[in-house]
Amino acid sequence: MTNQEKQYFLDILKEVRDGENSRFVTSKQYKHHGKTSVYKHSLNVAYMSYKLAKRWNLNVDYRALLRGALLHDYFLYDWHVGELRRPLHGFYHPGKALENADKDFDLNETERDIIKKHMFPLTMYVPRHKESWIVCMVDKWTAAIETMKRR
Ligand SMILES: [Fe+2]
Ligand SMILES: [Fe+2]
Repeated sequence: MTNQEKQYFLDILKEVRDGENSRFVTSKQYKHHGKTSVYKHSLNVAYMSYKLAKRWNLNVDYRALLRGALLHDYFLYDWHVGELRRPLHGFYHPGKALENADKDFDLNETERDIIKKHMFPLTMYVPRHKESWIVCMVDKWTAAIETMKRR
């Protein structure tokens, strides 16, 4: 990626992280896959999604792609602890992430679609936009690598 493209990634990250109502940094305290925090995982997914779209020269909304990817797991709890949520986390968290993100950010339709549908096909919601398909695929791949790194 060019320096300009990298700078764009950092600008969007800053916007999401330092937004007036943002709780994005709190995701640093929640472990996700292996030793990777939700914060780091979200950055990994956003960066890889962006890189792929750039590499393939896709005609997508890059701002929405990055913001949606950064917020796709904005569920803000530790899914490894606690009662009923844990086994159902896979089904439950996209809705929770969207609810939180809607509260803290002004999202567009593509960003909402990315967050809500990133667990397809586990959840039945079929991604509607190219941006959502990219994040949905990259998320699974990234999660697998993060989980393997644990060993
Ligand atoms: Fe997720
Ligand atoms: Fe994820």
